[in-house]
Amino acid sequence: MTTRKLLYWVAAGTAAEAWRRYETESIRLLRVDAALPRWPAHLNGFRVLVVSDMHVRRGAKSPGRREKRLSRILKDIACDVLLVPGDCGNTRNAVRVAVNVLRSACPRYGTYITLGNGENKPWADTQGLVKELQHGGRVLMNESARIDVNGHPVWIAGVDDPFEDKDRLSRALAGIPESEPVILIAHTPEIVTRLHRAKVDLAVCGHTHGGQVCRPDGTAIWTQMSLQTRDALGAGLYLPVHLSDYNKSGVGDARLFVSRGVGTARLPIRLHCRPEIALLTLHGAE
Ligand SMILES: [Fe+2]
Repeated sequence: MTTRKLLYWVAAGTAAEAWRRYETESIRLLRVDAALPRWPAHLNGFRVLVVSDMHVRRGAKSPGRREKRLSRILKDIACDVLLVPGDCGNTRNAVRVAVNVLRSACPRYGTYITLGNGENKPWADTQGLVKELQHGGRVLMNESARIDVNGHPVWIAGVDDPFEDKDRLSRALAGIPESEPVILIAHTPEIVTRLHRAKVDLAVCGHTHGGQVCRPDGTAIWTQMSLQTRDALGAGLYLPVHLSDYNKSGVGDARLFVSRGVGTARLPIRLHCRPEIALLTLHGAE
């Protein structure tokens, strides 16, 4: 190989690595206004921060560049609750790193976490991971927690991973009065197929990574789901009209938010799909 060719390949490799780092590490903060028909007026402006799919690498003992960047971002965001729909990591070391990052945030009413398929891998020490996650917030395994916002209730319910059929929605929602607002955390948007059985105002999910490798317009090619289409429910806020294809019984008034999440799975790459955290501001529909 000539010196000129060698220099060409070195330059091309350096540029590709710089682009890969940009695509996988430049975390964006997505701000979403979500209008929920049953949301009480006295809770207008309630802010939900979503950090999903951190996928801290298995051998990590300290935060990498992406985790450090995420910590810095979280420190500056005012929110009422932090919701974490799974896939923080699948070893105790990795989850410890993830928890330290999550603790950079200061949610007024706490952090609520569910498990993803990452924490439910057959070889993973799931119970050990739950113990680690409990240092970061309340882990909701098919159960709910009641928040008191100036005397008004908001329920945060969480199911175990729907991807592995470990979700028990009725159990998670048991005891919640019909008239009180409910936000559900579930790792994967497949929970949409069960929402006809529930009274939920907003379901918050991750898992898809927004497709991770997307078309130039940012839409997903494949979202790793068992729903009818390979690119279903990749990322964003979905209304009942968007969800009717996936649940013929209807989802009632529920909205579904799917986050691209922060990390990567399988290959450490993203394309046209930067990592994201999301700040949802909730209010009643006009
Ligand atoms: Fe994931």
